[in-house]
Amino acid sequence: MAISEDFKQELKRRTNIADIIGNYVKLKKSGRNLMGKCPFHGDDTPSFSVSPEMGLYHCFGCNESGDVIQFVRKIEHLDYMEAVRWLAQKAGLTVPETNNDNKMHHLRQRIFEANREAARFYVRQLYTPEGKEALAYLTKRQLLPKTITHFGLGYSPKSRFELVNYLRSKGFSGTELIQANLANQSQNGNPYDRFSDRIMFPIIDLQRRVLGFGGRIMSNNKPKYLNTSETPVFNKGENLYALQFAKNKANGQLILVEGYMDVIALHQAGFENAVATLGTALTQEQALIIKRYCEEVVICYDADEAGQRATARAIGILRPLGINIKILTVPNGKDPDEFMKSHGEQGPARFRMLLNNSGNDIDYRLTKLRSGYHLDITQQRVEFLTKACELLSQLDNSIERDIYISKLAEELGVEKAAIKEQTQQSIRTRQRRTEKDRQRSMQRSLTVSPEGFSGTEPFNLRVASAEDALISLLMAHPDVAVSVFPTLSPTLFPTAFHRMVYELLRDRAAQGYNFTFTDISDKLSADERNRLGKLLMSHSYEENPTAAAKDYIDILQEESEKLSPQQIAEADDNTLLEEMRKLRSKKQ
Ligand code: UTP
Ligand code: MN
Repeated sequence: MAISEDFKQELKRRTNIADIIGNYVKLKKSGRNLMGKCPFHGDDTPSFSVSPEMGLYHCFGCNESGDVIQFVRKIEHLDYMEAVRWLAQKAGLTVPETNNDNKMHHLRQRIFEANREAARFYVRQLYTPEGKEALAYLTKRQLLPKTITHFGLGYSPKSRFELVNYLRSKGFSGTELIQANLANQSQNGNPYDRFSDRIMFPIIDLQRRVLGFGGRIMSNNKPKYLNTSETPVFNKGENLYALQFAKNKANGQLILVEGYMDVIALHQAGFENAVATLGTALTQEQALIIKRYCEEVVICYDADEAGQRATARAIGILRPLGINIKILTVPNGKDPDEFMKSHGEQGPARFRMLLNNSGNDIDYRLTKLRSGYHLDITQQRVEFLTKACELLSQLDNSIERDIYISKLAEELGVEKAAIKEQTQQSIRTRQRRTEKDRQRSMQRSLTVSPEGFSGTEPFNLRVASAEDALISLLMAHPDVAVSVFPTLSPTLFPTAFHRMVYELLRDRAAQGYNFTFTDISDKLSADERNRLGKLLMSHSYEENPTAAAKDYIDILQEESEKLSPQQIAEADDNTLLEEMRKLRSKKQ
């Protein structure tokens, strides 16, 4: 790592993890810790815990732990050095530059710069004689000049070397351009422009950095869109097109569409809360980003079969996160862009009506479900109703539930009370199932072997609790720890994980460094970090740490002297006699 231990310590001293996390998560005081809803998974109950004293966060739902640097990395999608710089800036510190500065960070910065220069270059090309056709294409698609500017649309010239030559003249190397995926590599190793004769759509993140491009061909040739592939700065599944604009206009709601052009047409029509995925299906990561900016998503995918499948998939990802979902189907198989175009001046008002009338996903799913049954056949009607009640049982809001029950009763000529009773039944079944799952997962967490991951060592609850408690105590009470380190041997910890953590703490202390969670978390793997975070968050501070430490050490000592079941089975007579003598002398 390029930064010095001393700087890291200084940065962590000056940074309050609760303040930083508080900018993203509503935190409430709970004892010595703070609790909130986890920003990294769909969290209904607050299971995200922050300890300012230990510089630690842990989520009991998704079992993720980390320190403030890991939090910033994750939530802002930064690499390690970027997160350090980000925090340093907030703390008013300057990161000392060292010779072997992080290479990846440097490469990423270069790619961002190359992308920015390329975006400017493409924009300029649009207004040259060579870009005339491209500009005419955009105009024909009814984009206004100010929309074209707003989205930074451009044009990549036909020649395969113009961008490469230009960026080289600006000091970028061929390798950098290839790594940015602005250029491909020819057979003899030379870079040439990846995009040629295409309308260019820059993809920009929340920090206004250019991540990459989508390039649309103007003819009917294939591929219609060519996109930047994965690069050190671009991951399709982690970003949403136009989120940098939409997040400020969301007002609780985002419209999710399929294509770049749909987003642009909607923004131009005044629906500036539209975003799109980047040529792939919606990912969990994108859903979590969406959840950060709104409570409701209107899914507005194409009406064709692929679009419907994508809709079902998106519902499956968004609904468990507790996001309210509405489905907007544009009539006549059009996409939002074609809809706007075909309605001219009336487009925005008509789309507003579609938006206001769009049903929630229960509506959508009921309609879908219904299409699979012949409702004039009694048996099928019963099956449909049973399934429908199961769907309705997922609604938390009883008023909303009642509306659908009434609607179904009327449409199918069935007593409302009967549908209501069946729905209640489904709710009860669901609750029983959730309760069972909860109990099962509690049981699992209780019977986890001390080794946790490998499960090779025999389980002994007494030892496991003592090990956990002792590690937690030593980290929370450094004064007790330093008095214990000189005499407590690591071999007293039977579990490799605890032994490793103990050695780490002891070594840090010997070098004169702190050893709270945040001081050592860089030295741990993600699994180890999560395990330690959970352990620390599950233990409260000791009233009398010195006495408690002695108790735990005694337990470990005592247990270490006991023979294992295997050893007892294999022991010879003398060993057994000796063992019994030891036990007798202890009792006296
Ligand atoms: P569509 O085919 O629906 O295109 O693809 P579109 O957005 O309506 O574009 P126009 O109106 O024909 O110009 C939807 C999205 O899927 C991705 C792009 O992100 C596109 O916006 N896509 C599509 C590709 O990545 N590559 C392709 O070849 C086609
Ligand atoms: Mn389209």
